[in-house]
Amino acid sequence: MGSLTVSLSERAYEIEICRGFDSFRTMLDLVTTNNQVMIVTNNVIAPIYLDVMKEKLSGLNVNTCILEDGEVFKTLSAIEQVITSLLEARFDRGCTLIALGGGVVGDIAGFAASSYQRGVKFVQVPTTLLAQVDSSVGGKTGVNHPLGKNMIGAFYQPKLVYANVETLSTLPTRELRAGIAEIIKYGLIARPDFFNWLEEHLDKLLDGDADYLAKAIKISCETKAEVVAKDERESGIRAILNLGHTFGHAIETGLGYGEWLHGEAVACGMCLAAKMSYLAGWIPEEALAKTVALIQRANLPTSLPPTLSATEMLNHMQVDKKNRDGKIRLVLLRHLGEAVISDDYDPKLLLEVLENPAA
Ligand code: NAD
Ligand code: GLY
Repeated sequence: MGSLTVSLSERAYEIEICRGFDSFRTMLDLVTTNNQVMIVTNNVIAPIYLDVMKEKLSGLNVNTCILEDGEVFKTLSAIEQVITSLLEARFDRGCTLIALGGGVVGDIAGFAASSYQRGVKFVQVPTTLLAQVDSSVGGKTGVNHPLGKNMIGAFYQPKLVYANVETLSTLPTRELRAGIAEIIKYGLIARPDFFNWLEEHLDKLLDGDADYLAKAIKISCETKAEVVAKDERESGIRAILNLGHTFGHAIETGLGYGEWLHGEAVACGMCLAAKMSYLAGWIPEEALAKTVALIQRANLPTSLPPTLSATEMLNHMQVDKKNRDGKIRLVLLRHLGEAVISDDYDPKLLLEVLENPAA
């Protein structure tokens, strides 16, 4: 269905978007250096996809590490579990970790790969829409701390991303919609043409149409790959990929991990970022309305959970990796289709958005 390259000189890699796992072994053999393979997955995905994956790996020394499912288990103990599995299997520096699952499995497996014996190869096999359009690409790996989302981690690129869109057929609807939030993000930050395409074809994505999903995955990955190639370690432009995330991460930490899905929290955060951009006079009311309407059509939340106060939100937003010198830096919209990173906003606007959360 398509492949593209993340251009990062010696760390460059392919993203393969396809139906089925037919070409997986051939592509894997191009990046492994010995026969030791550890599949990291969880107890929801394993019963559906572990056997088919293992079949593709015949002849290799395959071990598995099955984690508990859920954001609440994206912790340092999950890292220890993966490392223990690697040590018990007596795997050496030449081994390869395969992350088979969504963003939680991918973030954990990637971080474990970055630290096992100071770094071994890893391959992403994303099985959620969110992971296929975002988390499997770009090399951000890590786990949560009770005081802050994704506060422990490393930049560590995979050797290959293999996105089999057929796996999306078993994904719960709520998870599919959470992935659509990150797809809408690319339209808002960099691709006004794609935003228009989404307005036209959102229903196809919501219906799980594989061809439309594949197209949306390709455009999303292209957009992300371009940004990552310019700024791998987020010293500047890469932060635009965080549109809605400062609000979103605060919601996830504030409610307790797993209460709202990551994509749901980001969807609400994007509405709040658009509202701030409107109040700051950067985007017209029509652009705010279009943003909120598309997110609403995807059945995603557009306003803050009522149980989180503005003060709680602000406290959590102060723990964000983008912040500098105690200032909350936000990704805002300069236009519909162009994002900017700014701490040069009127703090009263932020308070207004948090106190009157309906976008
Ligand atoms: P997830 O990994 O929790 O997966 C969602 C749910 O779907 C889980 O219950 C999972 O077991 C299940 N599942 C996965 N694939 C399935 C399939 N094919 N069929 C049936 N069930 C399936 O959630 P997610 O939305 O994929 O990822 C969210 C995580 O990704 C968050 O922790 C977020 O912080 C992280 N993230 C990371 C990056 C990055 O750049 N590294 C970017 C965005 C998000
Ligand atoms: N999901 C944000 C990033 O990869 O930078």
